[in-house]
Amino acid sequence: MRALARTDPGSRWESRLVRSAHPVVARVVDAAVSRRGVVRVPGVGVLVADPGVARRVLTDPDAFAKNGPGSSGALWTPVLGERVLLNMEGAAHRALRRSLSDLFSPRVVREVCDAAAGPLVAAAASRLRAGEDLDVVRLAREVSAAAIGVVVGLDPATPPATLLEASDAIESMVSWRTRGFDEGAVRRARAALAVVQDAAESAHAAKGPDTVMGRLARQGASLDDARSLAAALFLTGTGTVSSAFPRIAGQLADADLLAPGRVLSHDVDAVVAEGLRMTTPSLATLRRCVRVTDLGGVRVRADERVVVLLWWATRREGGFDPGRAATGDLRHLWFGAGSHFCLGAPLALAELRAMTAMLLDVAGEQGLVVSSRRAARRVLVPRYAELTVRTPNGRQVDRLARPAGPSRSDRAA
Ligand code: HEM
Repeated sequence: MRALARTDPGSRWESRLVRSAHPVVARVVDAAVSRRGVVRVPGVGVLVADPGVARRVLTDPDAFAKNGPGSSGALWTPVLGERVLLNMEGAAHRALRRSLSDLFSPRVVREVCDAAAGPLVAAAASRLRAGEDLDVVRLAREVSAAAIGVVVGLDPATPPATLLEASDAIESMVSWRTRGFDEGAVRRARAALAVVQDAAESAHAAKGPDTVMGRLARQGASLDDARSLAAALFLTGTGTVSSAFPRIAGQLADADLLAPGRVLSHDVDAVVAEGLRMTTPSLATLRRCVRVTDLGGVRVRADERVVVLLWWATRREGGFDPGRAATGDLRHLWFGAGSHFCLGAPLALAELRAMTAMLLDVAGEQGLVVSSRRAARRVLVPRYAELTVRTPNGRQVDRLARPAGPSRSDRAA
């Protein structure tokens, strides 16, 4: 195994974000996997940081299940119901995935992204070109919320804050230690999700051919399935994209690829893919071992918990380099692998491409610098609380997204 510690600024910021989000767990995991890619940590489970072993776990649902007692999928069942993909396995999961295969077709993705990201990204570009500061955290949060809003059929007049508050409320209910929700938590989670599910219900009832939920209804999806799916897409699709883009922007800045004259004519897709490899917003995913299995020399017992450490696995390749394509076991591993591979990957990529292309365009014209950034503390999905960029001669005017209190300067960890 290659060592994880890296000294380039992009890697140091990534480590800082993960440690700021999960101060204790990140240190324990770093120490446990620093020498071995598969290791048992008593009370936690079997940790997998080796990309090949991670892929093996994710692509063998007969041996490693995502549902059942104590699984992460089971956590959501009381809130979302039995049929939300992430708590399913086997034939039922395969059938539901098949029925959703067109959900994010290229045409749907283009329409959703144009409607949701288009105006926000254009406004952001204008601000940068006018010399203003742009908080890319705020931009990514608004774009990801708007995209899910379009998918579930939310009234476009609904302010982005409505979905963002719901997303934050749910995220704050879950930590690495959460093994189940009590009745009060289930009630609170359902209340937070109501805005999304009610919108999905109206769109399902209207059966419009131009809405995602309407098309699901026309294909025969039940109202319950549409409500559950809308909530699942909201849970999986907002925090991930809004964490990813500012981190990709940070990687570009740390690799000195936003400075005047330094912007490479890289294919935006390659920048996004390499940015996702470096940042891997879904830090880890859990499986329950179904039968005794050997994993990289560790004998895993039936019902034991396997923690697939995606962020640790994908970063074994080295620092940010958009010229290098992740191949073999690493290919798309940030979106998982096998039967639970990210359903929303095409939409996530389109949103990230729209925002990254805008950043590279403006950087190509005038250069961009990071004017301030701050890691979010004790959050489920590691992220920046703030990352502002501006043209080198820009003026600092965007203070709206900055919480009260002194901001820290742009220091690497
Ligand atoms: C950069 C952004 C994203 C990342 C890194 C990401 C990552 C992942 C990963 C790693 C999984 C597999 C988890 C596992 O195997 O346990 C997954 C599943 C899933 N993702 Fe994403 N995701 C992203 C964006 C989205 C978006 C935008 C949506 C929806 C619009 C979405 C919807 C889903 C769903 C529904 C599943 C569950 C699929 C199943 O269990 O069959 N994701 N995602």
